[in-house]
Amino acid sequence: MLPAGSKGDVPYNVRPFQVESVAPPTQLTEIPSGFLNSTEPIDLEIGCGVGWHPIRYATENSDRRLIAIEHTREKFEKFHSRYLRHPNLTNLLPIHADAVRWITHALKPGCLSRCFLLYPNPEPKAVNRRWLRMPFMHKLLETLARDGELILATNEQTYFDEAKEWAENYWNLEILEARSFSDSTKPLGIPRTHFEKKYLERGEICHDLRLRKKNHA
Ligand SMILES: C[S@@+](CC[C@H](N)C(=O)[O-])C[C@H]1O[C@@H](n2cnc3c(N)ncnc32)[C@H](O)[C@@H]1O
Repeated sequence: MLPAGSKGDVPYNVRPFQVESVAPPTQLTEIPSGFLNSTEPIDLEIGCGVGWHPIRYATENSDRRLIAIEHTREKFEKFHSRYLRHPNLTNLLPIHADAVRWITHALKPGCLSRCFLLYPNPEPKAVNRRWLRMPFMHKLLETLARDGELILATNEQTYFDEAKEWAENYWNLEILEARSFSDSTKPLGIPRTHFEKKYLERGEICHDLRLRKKNHA
């Protein structure tokens, strides 16, 4: 990891991650045997809401595996009933848990190829709870394989700008792509999620970033 530094007015500093401060999830969802030991790439989606993206992604990427985590019960239940209507999706693992707790205790370093953070809560009043400013980010990047990708989407311009800045200047991630789009300029395949659809229909601009882990220690 790069040493904490500063650029302009932004102090880049994130406390070290302390595994002992993260309690294990109340119930560790059973992981089907072999799911994590596959030769196929394993991807992760944090905060997948009602599950549009995981169902579609797993359907379109039958040669990959996806773990999709959602902690709000009502949303998870909608996702889960959608999942049950797709019994062929053996490459998708829905998890009802807090992602920080589950990932910390269930995933090994370097096991993930991609991680999706699609429309996370922007935390306007609690900057330290934004994903790229949390100590947990050290852990999340540790679970990504070298050259692994982190895909983040948001409808908040300031959140997007901040994530880009922290990704490059603090986390030493390579920016592979940074896009902004509206309902009339959206790339093929969008909307991907329930929130993305809602924001675009309201006339908002959405943004996404595709980041690559270079050599995060
Ligand atoms: C704004 S919603 C976006 C949902 C979905 N990605 C979409 O775009 O439609 C953010 C979601 O992240 C979930 N979430 C936030 N923090 C989480 C955590 N620590 N673990 C699991 N889910 C989390 C929330 O419950 C919520 O469903």
